[in-house]
Amino acid sequence: MLEVHKAVFPVAGIDTRFLPATKASPKEMLPVIDKPLIQYAVEEAIAAGITELIFVTGRGKRVIEDHFDESYEVEHVLKARGKQCLVDLVHSITPPEVKCIYVRQAEPLGLGHAVLCAEKLIGDEPFAVLLADDLLDGQPPVLAQMVHLFSHYDSSVLAVEEFESYDASSHGVVGGQHWDERVISVSSIVEKPSPEAALSSFGAAGRYVLMPSIFEHLHSLKPAANEEIQLTLAIHSMLKDEQVLAYEFVGKRYDCGTKLGYLQATVDFALRHAEVHDAFGTWLRERVRGMQPDPGVQPQAH
Ligand code: G1P
Repeated sequence: MLEVHKAVFPVAGIDTRFLPATKASPKEMLPVIDKPLIQYAVEEAIAAGITELIFVTGRGKRVIEDHFDESYEVEHVLKARGKQCLVDLVHSITPPEVKCIYVRQAEPLGLGHAVLCAEKLIGDEPFAVLLADDLLDGQPPVLAQMVHLFSHYDSSVLAVEEFESYDASSHGVVGGQHWDERVISVSSIVEKPSPEAALSSFGAAGRYVLMPSIFEHLHSLKPAANEEIQLTLAIHSMLKDEQVLAYEFVGKRYDCGTKLGYLQATVDFALRHAEVHDAFGTWLRERVRGMQPDPGVQPQAH
């Protein structure tokens, strides 16, 4: 049975949707309450049994390395102030058995190219890819659900979610046969089609468990018109030789690459955050009540 020990986090991309917040700091470090997006993705990977985290970084992304590194200064100050639980909190960000490796993507040539940058570090093993701006909330964590399916079928697995028809152009869209309620045997995948050209209403949701054969397909691709190498095209090319599964995961996806998704994640996570859920819930209910007409009051005729 094949096991998955390595995960790739493509974090080199420049974000324009959150400017000016992301002018000098990486979008992956935007916090949802008190944790950066990249940490949610890392925790999901660790919960799926991943022990080697490979970050494909670029210019201006050094702070991600600092985040997953020891911080002697912060720990020293916290210890001196007697805040042991905060020392433990910052210390536990990366458990000792987990290794972080950083590799640079010198030019922004697409998701497929980012994955290729990790090729030497992956070698001949299956691996996961996690896009941190998709915050996936599931129990068990979504990547763990996928690794489970992967080890059952020894086939690459893509997380998918059903989307609204107008949303096709922001997803890699999958076509294929449903094997059961949640598993689709993929026959085609197209990157961001027009709504009319979409093969189905199932879109890739930023989590992949891939066989190492993906690298051959990435190498054989011609770059797209914008010079990018698309992961979706390499997956499509893989279908000639092997089975690929799409998995409709149990959980919720927040598209934190958009302001709306980011706000939805913030509200939902705040409503169950140990420190603020009570006060925030009360405030939010009052706020919403203030926005709606009171059902007990009849509108006055003028
Ligand atoms: C990427 C992938 C796309 C996938 C999406 C999920 O696009 O290329 O296939 O559906 O992530 O978030 P991006 O959002 O980076 O443009």
